[in-house]
Amino acid sequence: MIEARDYVKKIRPYKPGKPIEEVVRELNLKGEIIKLASNENPLGISPLALKAMKKAVEEVHLYPDDNCYYLREKLAGRFHVDSENIVVGNGSVEILPLITLAYLGPENSAVVTAGSFIWYKIAVNIAQGELVEVPMKNYRHDLSAMLKAIKKNTKLIFLDNPINPTGTMVTRAEIDEFFKQVPDDILVVVDEAYYEYIEDPNYPHAFDYYKKGKNILVLRTYSKIYGLAGTRLGYGVAKEEIIANLMKLRVSFNVNRISQIAGIAALDDYEHIKRGRHINEAGKKFLYDAYKDLGLFYLPTYGNFIFVDFKKDSQIVFEALQSKGIITRTIKQYDFPNALRITIGTEEQNKKLINALEEVL
Ligand SMILES: Cc1ncc(COP(=O)(O)O)c(C=O)c1O
Repeated sequence: MIEARDYVKKIRPYKPGKPIEEVVRELNLKGEIIKLASNENPLGISPLALKAMKKAVEEVHLYPDDNCYYLREKLAGRFHVDSENIVVGNGSVEILPLITLAYLGPENSAVVTAGSFIWYKIAVNIAQGELVEVPMKNYRHDLSAMLKAIKKNTKLIFLDNPINPTGTMVTRAEIDEFFKQVPDDILVVVDEAYYEYIEDPNYPHAFDYYKKGKNILVLRTYSKIYGLAGTRLGYGVAKEEIIANLMKLRVSFNVNRISQIAGIAALDDYEHIKRGRHINEAGKKFLYDAYKDLGLFYLPTYGNFIFVDFKKDSQIVFEALQSKGIITRTIKQYDFPNALRITIGTEEQNKKLINALEEVL
């Protein structure tokens, strides 16, 4: 028997939302299953991406372009950067261990918010770096505490804006102040997975800071509003030398042919983005009222999901909803044992969720 290295044994794997297929298999459920567990787009895939992907399927006997030339050109044009400033990943999570492997070792630390997106922790552990966790304040990043947590050996800071799973954001004024104080030799990774959903004028666009020359890496994904979670596609934008280092560490052909084509087409699907935003805003209003009526504590969200606190072990609520064919997400792994993170669905899905909750509670 071969034994794994100690650091590998210590890694606690990520537990994704349950796939519909798994729930059907486990519970032998009949009828429609609603998945509100992974913040996917309830409207489905971008129609423009779908059309492009169907064509691309006919060429899967050929390897993809290892450099993602056309997709990087497209993204570069959109964001007014060079393609050398862009790394594409098999989902944005793929880029996280590239960052930690490039910049962290056992002698370095990374600062993260405890209870924010779990993959930052895993990526730090993969690189055997030291993890410095800072508690949230009112379910938000506590930026001044994060600044205080910086040590001489700190190389990275991870910020999801908004935070998954609480849905809270830091404002432009807060980030302005933060960047004034972060030492220049620390790379700040700002993960804007839910960027396309946000219209608040106080939302700090990470690109603005990148363009001001800050030491920042912006992460974005196609898994949310574009409806491409299943094909896995995300990207990072940073200074050329940072991207060059990440490119060295990735596996060849990390982004498949179909995803590359989809990413180019989806970026122009303004109609799908508009519809996604609209349905999300309508869903927010409906669900806020409904949660209020049910007497539940929830956090107003900047994403496409809502953090709902049941003030008791949420596993019970999770299982009761699941037996009615509705999959939500427990966030025990994030140290919120009493809360569920529930994706905002279509109008019909949201109504079914609330009806089910009324029965369950
Ligand atoms: C903050 C955050 N970053 C990254 C991701 C993962 O994105 P991807 O599907 O591109 O790997 C998620 C997904 O839930 C997320 O919430």
